[in-house]
Amino acid sequence: MYFEMEGFYMFKKIVGAVALTCLSTTAIHASELFNAEDAVKYRQSVYQIFAAQTGVMGAMVTGKMPFDAAEISKRANNIAAVAHMLGDTYFPATRTVKSSNMKDNAWNNMEDFQAKGQNYGEALGKLVEASSQDDFDAAKARPVVGAVLQACKACHDDYRAK
Ligand code: HEC
Repeated sequence: MYFEMEGFYMFKKIVGAVALTCLSTTAIHASELFNAEDAVKYRQSVYQIFAAQTGVMGAMVTGKMPFDAAEISKRANNIAAVAHMLGDTYFPATRTVKSSNMKDNAWNNMEDFQAKGQNYGEALGKLVEASSQDDFDAAKARPVVGAVLQACKACHDDYRAK
């Protein structure tokens, strides 16, 4: 559902890993590599990386920082480079980890949660693409960066506790 740079294909990846496990006794999946508490820390760290990038991009499109197309492109690619790692962290045992701010509701609405992830991935893909163009300027950046931020928020509004 995502191309490789877009990340949030996590559940697909997990399903894939589980399917592989059925085919081969040697295949292992993320839940065997990370304990649930560590997986949540890892997940939150990836999101912190996201936030550090969107912070800079947001500041640039709102004029709080000088606009720099190459910098936005770099930041968008930074997110794309780590987003797929989230796939390691979303396995059912993380559901009951106390330090997780994922709403339990997300596990009951997995399809919608994934759809929100997909929307976000598409918005990010458009930003990666647009920011690589020679004519990318503040006016062009505003709506595409805005769409990414909106997609982060759309998921948090429903599925993040704080
Ligand atoms: C499909 C849903 C979804 C999308 C899209 C999403 N997030 Fe999140 N985000 C979550 C969930 C769920 C948590 C809570 C994770 C946990 O604590 O287990 C979270 C947590 C966070 C946190 C807190 C991490 C911490 O240290 O506890 C930050 C910051 C964050 N997200 C930033 C972003 C940014 C920036 C984007 C967009 C570029 C984004 N998120 C996109 C679902 C999403």
